[in-house]
Amino acid sequence: MSSLWTDLPRPIFTLAPMEDVTDTVFRRLVRSWSHRWGASGPAVMFSEFTRVDAAIRSTPEKCDGRLRFDDYERPLVAQIWGTNPREFELGAQALEALGFDGIDINMGCPAWKVRKSGACSALIANRNLAAELIASCRRGSSLPLSVKTRIGITVPETEEWCGFLLDQGVDAITLHGRVADQMSEDWADWREVRRVVELRDRCGAPTAIFGNGDVGSLEHARRLVEQTGADGVMIGRGIFFDPLLFARESAAPPPLWEEMPLPERVSYLAEHMREYHREWQGRRSFEVLKKFFRNYFLPADSREQEILNTLYTVGTPGKAIALLREQAGLVDSDEVYLPEEEELPEDLFGDNHELHRRDTAVGEW
Ligand SMILES: Cc1cc2nc3c(=O)[nH]c(=O)nc-3n(C[C@H](O)[C@H](O)[C@H](O)COP(=O)(O)O)c2cc1C
Repeated sequence: MSSLWTDLPRPIFTLAPMEDVTDTVFRRLVRSWSHRWGASGPAVMFSEFTRVDAAIRSTPEKCDGRLRFDDYERPLVAQIWGTNPREFELGAQALEALGFDGIDINMGCPAWKVRKSGACSALIANRNLAAELIASCRRGSSLPLSVKTRIGITVPETEEWCGFLLDQGVDAITLHGRVADQMSEDWADWREVRRVVELRDRCGAPTAIFGNGDVGSLEHARRLVEQTGADGVMIGRGIFFDPLLFARESAAPPPLWEEMPLPERVSYLAEHMREYHREWQGRRSFEVLKKFFRNYFLPADSREQEILNTLYTVGTPGKAIALLREQAGLVDSDEVYLPEEEELPEDLFGDNHELHRRDTAVGEW
């Protein structure tokens, strides 16, 4: 069995799977921006969560958009969800053939749509099925197998639930310190992460334990590792507030994101738009990308807010970059990150070209 989770040097900082955010484009950018500043980037990244049947239908030549990746993103783990054990066996086989470095089963998404089907966080209350899904993945593939989950459904039942997962012999557990009913409210409780580390140590299991929830920087992540004994930390929304978060591991880190001049921050946005266009060619809506704009802008005055507001109304990356360059003077025309205008044909973009089904609403995570 491959040793992804045992061999990586501790502490291990991973980039969380985030639907409509951590696609292949963003994962490559996070890695590339880290390299640009002399850091290696996230130790492991994850695909957006993908229905297991989409994994089964995927081949290297024609695969679900959520499962597209480039070797540059490695190590990369595919995250799947569903309820059918046979599908998990076939899905695991397909993911191994696609070349992923690991498989993660989502047992944490609290969205009603998926919970109603008995998947994701609903599995916390259905141990028999959870065990079957894990065993099915093992039958289908020898890839390292992890589970991303929460501390309970309505009330914390961390030790019982994670003790059960440890008994199934999974290679890693990422624990988001909230119950499903909390969605993203209140604070994640990191004491629960320490409980699982202690439980793991008591039973001598080789499973790597990761904490997750409300971590905004690598410094914060390091403190939590010290306090909990976890093998690492998974960071999600922290990257919204600092797209260069993982670059800060460098000996010569970038300036604080909020202290960077706006044109510099916006050049990262222009690069994101260019790469998004190159990869998706209109098969993913430009609207999906718009939720990043504010993170790059951090508008400081009314003029910047006005530019941002106008940017939201623009329909294509080409127009957005033209607006930033010509009207706002924010992107230099010699800017290395600028896409060629002819690379950005307008008619390729639009809301009708969604590549994949939207299974959850962002607010539900
Ligand atoms: C926009 C968004 C999309 C998410 N999509 C996924 C997903 O596809 N799979 C998953 O396991 N968790 C998903 N999550 C949950 C995150 O991975 C993470 O567990 C959660 O945001 C808490 O960590 P954080 O406080 O570091 O963001 C998503 C969260 C957000 C905000």
